[in-house]
Amino acid sequence: MISTRLFLRNMRPGWACPGHSVFHQQACSTITTTTVSSPRPATATATCIHTSICSSRRSYHELSYRERGEPLQVLEYFASKEDDNLEEDDTNTEDDHLVKVEMLHAPWNPADMNTIQGKYPSPLQHPIPQPSSCRVSSPGQEEDWRVAGSEGWGRIVETKTKKKDNSVDLYSPGTYVTMGQSGLGTFRSSLWLPTRALIPITRGHELFVSSSSSSSNDKAAAIASLFQLGGTAWRMLSDFQDLPDHPCIILQNAGNSGVGRMVSQLAGLVHNYTNQRNVRVISLVRRGTKSEQEFAELKQSLTQQPSATSTGSCTTEVIAEEDLLNDKEALKALQASFGTTPPRLAINAVGGSSASLLLKLLAPGGTMVTYGGMSMQPVTVATPQLIFKDISIRGYWHSRWMAKAFVRQKQQLVNELVNAVLDHQIVLPPVQVFALSQVQEALEFEAQQSTEAVRRKVVFDCQRTQNP
Ligand SMILES: NC(=O)c1ccc[n+]([C@@H]2O[C@H](COP(=O)([O-])OP(=O)(O)OC[C@H]3O[C@@H](n4cnc5c(N)ncnc54)[C@H](OP(=O)(O)O)[C@@H]3O)[C@@H](O)[C@H]2O)c1
Repeated sequence: MISTRLFLRNMRPGWACPGHSVFHQQACSTITTTTVSSPRPATATATCIHTSICSSRRSYHELSYRERGEPLQVLEYFASKEDDNLEEDDTNTEDDHLVKVEMLHAPWNPADMNTIQGKYPSPLQHPIPQPSSCRVSSPGQEEDWRVAGSEGWGRIVETKTKKKDNSVDLYSPGTYVTMGQSGLGTFRSSLWLPTRALIPITRGHELFVSSSSSSSNDKAAAIASLFQLGGTAWRMLSDFQDLPDHPCIILQNAGNSGVGRMVSQLAGLVHNYTNQRNVRVISLVRRGTKSEQEFAELKQSLTQQPSATSTGSCTTEVIAEEDLLNDKEALKALQASFGTTPPRLAINAVGGSSASLLLKLLAPGGTMVTYGGMSMQPVTVATPQLIFKDISIRGYWHSRWMAKAFVRQKQQLVNELVNAVLDHQIVLPPVQVFALSQVQEALEFEAQQSTEAVRRKVVFDCQRTQNP
């Protein structure tokens, strides 16, 4: 059972961001930037320049955990009327530029669950500033609280800069940003980060305005998952295997997952840039306990996503995995439809028999990229598949790519994804939005998504402090 530590002295409902929650940002869109010298220099030699937007006092809240374990047991909601402003001491980091990001939305991903369980390596390489005003600790207790969450988007509301140079302008107040590295703890109303940990979202304001214009804020919330889901899909589609011009067939399982939806929509964009060709994505999904009607609904939702591009077309075929595993004729018919050029790229998020099925369908010399292990079963490769078919087995971890990539490569990826959304070339997976304080409801909702016709991704609205 999730316990809730509420430090709500003098706190009114909806106090999180008076006059400045995400819903008020359009009103704040004429940004007045004030620059004031901080009362004390941050170091003996450098003067800290402090720039802020909308100076109203905000409260702070977060979802954090002290012990590894099942998220429902160990995740706790914490709220404080204190804002997470940095003390002068907190600015004594190696970083010259620190910015305060007001988080808009942060998605709950399978990796968040595994990280809290202690089953997922932490890619966080450098510690980030922890403002003392919001640190979650009880007097006399040695606690090591970690804020959960790895992904999301937000907006810079304050900066502290020791040395002013041109690069700072990319991170000025009002700039929309996403995370440039994993494990930063995004399930909170705001956080201070060095600019190196962030990627500015080009056209971010346009994205915010267009996604916030719908009656619900689902579209804006869905943006939070664009960068990891879309980024993972994009890299797997482009970095592992050259594909023939015709026919260009891509196989994947978990086709209804967030990444799977991105794979089938981005395949056309990634592979049609230079060649006019038609891309065929074969998406395997679990039928599970879904009725015929529910399965038809799922198929429709996956095949009606945008996929055509200006230089070619991309079609998605949805096939129930069980139909191929249990019916040899159905498998043969699919293989026959490939003609003489079976698929050379398979994308696997499941493992076990599902991955074996992908391997069976893959062309000699083809590559299977594994990025998830949802079945918790190992990937097993038959020896002849290695010897006679020369199949390559690779793995992809987006956190590793983010840690190794140059800033310009990460920026380019973000730009491509944002353009694809704004140009209506992709739609984001359906989401269900919760407040951070609704963590129990959110995780219970997530746990029953496998039984739904169309699964929804849980996204936290990081500013909402009460139920809608
Ligand atoms: N390597 C990376 O960098 C990276 C990046 C992003 C995501 N991932 C991984 O990619 C996978 C999908 O992530 P996501 O955020 O896109 O997921 P998601 O939207 O939450 O969807 C989960 C997917 O997993 C399937 N699934 C759940 N339990 C399963 C089981 N026991 N056996 C087979 N399939 C099962 C679901 O199918 P049903 O609807 O039938 O349950 C659904 O297709 C996860 O493993 C995640 O950790 C990896």
